[in-house]
Amino acid sequence: MNTSTLTKKVIKEKKQGEVLELSYKEEKKRKLYIESFGCQMNFSDSEIVASILSKEGFTTTKDITRADLVFVNTCSIREKAEQTVRKRLEFYNSIKQKNNPKMVVGVLGCMAERLKEKFLEEEKLVNLVVGPDAYRDLPNLIKEIDHERKAVNVLLSLEETYADINPIRLSGNGVTAFVSITRGCDNMCTFCVVPFTRGRERSRNPKSIIKECTELFNNGYREVTLLGQNVDSYLWYGGGAKKNFKKVDLQTQKKSINFANLLELVAQINPDLRVRFSTSNPQDMTIDVIQKIAKYENICNYIHLPVQSGSSRILKLMKRGYTRKEYLSLIDNIKNVIPDCAISMDIITGFCSEKEEDHKDTLSLMDYVKYDFGYMFKYSERPNTPAARMDDDVNEAIKQKRLVEIIEKQTKHSLINMKNKIGKTLKVLIEGVSKKSKNDFYGRTTHNATVVFKKENYNVGEYVMVKIEDCTSATLKGKIV
Ligand code: 5AD
Ligand code: SF4
Repeated sequence: MNTSTLTKKVIKEKKQGEVLELSYKEEKKRKLYIESFGCQMNFSDSEIVASILSKEGFTTTKDITRADLVFVNTCSIREKAEQTVRKRLEFYNSIKQKNNPKMVVGVLGCMAERLKEKFLEEEKLVNLVVGPDAYRDLPNLIKEIDHERKAVNVLLSLEETYADINPIRLSGNGVTAFVSITRGCDNMCTFCVVPFTRGRERSRNPKSIIKECTELFNNGYREVTLLGQNVDSYLWYGGGAKKNFKKVDLQTQKKSINFANLLELVAQINPDLRVRFSTSNPQDMTIDVIQKIAKYENICNYIHLPVQSGSSRILKLMKRGYTRKEYLSLIDNIKNVIPDCAISMDIITGFCSEKEEDHKDTLSLMDYVKYDFGYMFKYSERPNTPAARMDDDVNEAIKQKRLVEIIEKQTKHSLINMKNKIGKTLKVLIEGVSKKSKNDFYGRTTHNATVVFKKENYNVGEYVMVKIEDCTSATLKGKIV
């Protein structure tokens, strides 16, 4: 063996030794399995939780059987969402009994906040209950569990925005990321449990938002979705969030940053960084925001604008803060300023006292707007909300019938909107390999429409121009040109 081969061999062995040692260390690290349900905000919060625990020596695993710590980030928005979580808890418990009796199970998020200590009493399967504003306390709570087997923190905060925490991207395609900009909600729609589970609304420091988005772009990400229960009420005035805003003098107000300003700042990071946002509230959306979308090519032409009902009487009972007429004039404004803007909605069917004529109002509103997409739900009474004091008097069969009618209408409208895109050439950000064929990529247009097309010689994270050739009500198909 000549010296050079010998040296190579030694280096190789040393490298293997290092790798072994590293993987041994990784092996020794405690493992966190975290599952999220509900809105995008929960998925974003789980990335904050993973970051807080990585500093405590936890790594994340996708294999629940190897986990020391199993967290479920929960949703309380409808009863069905809570039932899903309870089923998952039973599943975790079966894993716990089979694989690892020491496995710790924690409930995070809205259901933890709503049920608090009751969770530990009702569900013997749970060790840890942590509300959405208490994640910084997780390291202490986990230590507490070592002694007590149980720990709870469900304190809500007026300030917490986790602004300084660098999320660990969990669901990552490496191209699109969620960035939270506000937490909580002050709107108090009567059907909604969110103001109780997520607390008062507060805005995050814009500097930390811009920093996070810039770093994402520098790391190859090409799309950010700014998240909040009600992004349009984002407000920052230098010293803090919205709650003290009225006390501030005129001069300070001039320096304040509202959602339209923030959108512009994020859009200016780089023209190749797409910007999306969710959720907009019709009562708070301003013409300034609409104009910013029109001004910047990289702010996507897509607005999720939940209407909930087309009947002004029902909207009033829901305390939505707008009438049918006001909502429609907002839609007209959007379409005038951004003719090519896709719009989606949330609708609730069978809210308290909803009559057939109210339902007809919802159907006719849908005909007017012709939404590109929609999320539709049956009303589900949530304990302690203002609507829980009203009579949930629309029977299940009627709720279901109305739901089917609006879903059918929406499917028709989605198909019409998709068909209108056939023959057009649209800019698409490549987000990953299609689940149906490994020869195809999928990506989205500015309108948030999913497109599937042959890969050719392109890569995930690149923009391509795709000529649309065919569609279903949910997906476009095309060819790179
Ligand atoms: N029942 C049914 N749907 C609800 N939503 C919120 N609360 C309820 C409820 N109690 C829907 C609304 C909201 C979406 C996130 O969930 O449409 O916009
Ligand atoms: Fe709930 Fe209304 Fe706030 Fe949305 S705006 S989170 S529906 S209270």
